[in-house]
Formats: sequence, structure tokens, C-alpha cells
Amino acid sequence: MDRPIGVIDSGVGGLTVALELMRQLPREKLIYLGDTKRCPYGPRTKEEVQQFTWEMVNFLLEKEIKLLVIACNTATAYTIDDLKDKLNIPVIGVINPGARAAIKATNNQEIGIIGTEGTVKSGAYPEALKRINPELHVQALACPLFVPLVERGVFSGEEARTVVQTTLEPLVEDNVMDTLILGCTHYPLLKPLIQDVVGNKVAVISSSEETARETSAILEIKHLHNKSGVQQVHEIYSTGDMELFNCIATKIFQSGIQQQFKIKRAV
Ligand code: SIN
Repeated sequence: MDRPIGVIDSGVGGLTVALELMRQLPREKLIYLGDTKRCPYGPRTKEEVQQFTWEMVNFLLEKEIKLLVIACNTATAYTIDDLKDKLNIPVIGVINPGARAAIKATNNQEIGIIGTEGTVKSGAYPEALKRINPELHVQALACPLFVPLVERGVFSGEEARTVVQTTLEPLVEDNVMDTLILGCTHYPLLKPLIQDVVGNKVAVISSSEETARETSAILEIKHLHNKSGVQQVHEIYSTGDMELFNCIATKIFQSGIQQQFKIKRAV
């Protein structure tokens, strides 16, 4: 059971999920693959996202992963059912955990969702939320300019504030939601700005904590927990520009963990 957990994302955003997995499951080894070369997935067709996701999954299957976490919301929306059907390892996406966390947080049953065009178009979040509580009122907004900002390492400053403020205007003006789901794994890196723009009365939810909790529960149920006491060295792969990826990954991990990792180019 000392096989690794695989984590895939379209780029750097899923590192926020990887960080939470490292915090909650310090004995597990992670192999992360970010498809930075073809990011963003949000504006791509369903067929393209499905093809790219399968390519990433095959890369990780060769490394003998015992469980797969799809840390990308767009990829989760378009591929999770197919992956669950075809793979003989557990598959966890980020949409159901995010929906559950939002349902726990809301008091007035008014939930906002922000995500990529693909995630919003798929209707996956409203579906997941209403499956649990059909009485919820859900509003979804696509934020196509957020991912390119994050992939450039721009998490704060005037440019980021202007983009976030302008994009979120319709939700802020509406002034009804008490809970906002960050329905894209890149958005937690903009969370301080987003929280500032929507105000402190709105609970801003990122699915990473709940996704890591679900992963831990599945490992327990399936008896897949790593029991060896050996310090793990995580492997972090990117398909694109290594310099920028290195810089963003180091920034994210340095702030939160004392674990070792190696960053490599996926070939
Ligand atoms: C993207 O690649 O456009 C964003 C990733 C996500 O949907 O979480």
C-alpha cells in the first residue's frame, strides 16, 4: 500500500489540492501532473478535455498509482464518470467535495459558484448541490480571465484586483449569496482578493480540504493507507514552462509544508 496517490490538473491550480493532501495525509507519496502546456482547459471542448485528461491518467497509471484525484474542476465535470467506469482504482473529483462544503456553510441557501466556462456550461455544480438539497438557489458565473492570471503567477496587485472586481460585479451587485464556491482549483490562489471583493459576510469555499478528507476516508475504507514510516519525496511534473512552474510550486509549498518534493518535466 506504499504505492503513490496520483493527482492531475490542467496546470498549477491543483497544487492547492496537493498541498492539502500533504497536510492531511503526511505518510502518502503524491505524484502530481500539471498540464501547463495546454492550460487553460476551461475554454476547450469537452472532447479535448477528455482526451488530455486520459493522456494524464495514462502517464500516472504507468507510475502505479493506487488512487486518482482529479484536482481540475473542468476535467472533473467532463470525465469523472468515464474514469470511474473504466479504472480499477478509486477516483475522486473536486466537485462533490466542494458542493458538500458549501452546503455545510450556507445559512440562507443562496450559493454562488465561480468557475471556468467549461465547468459552468457543464452544470455539474448545480447538479451536485441540488442532488443533496433541491431547495437551494444557485447562481453560476464563468470567470475566464482568472486562470491566465494565476498561471502567470499574478495572485495580487492592481491588475489582479481590477480583473477580480470587474468579473465578480454581477454577483456582488445581486447581494444575495452567503456562500461562494471557488469552482476552479486555480482560484484559491486568488482567495484573499476574492474574499475582499465579495465581503466578509460571504463564506468563500475551496474544495481542497474536503477533497483531502474524502481521499483519506476512501484510503481508510479500502485499506489503502500507507503504513510505512518512511519520509516520502513527492514527484511534481509539468508539461510546460519549467521555470515559472518551479517558481509557483515552490511558493505554494514553502508556505505550508515541511515535506520534500522533486519538480520534473513530464516527457
Ligand atoms: C482551467 O484549466 O481552465 C482551470 C482548471 C479548473 O477548472 O479547475
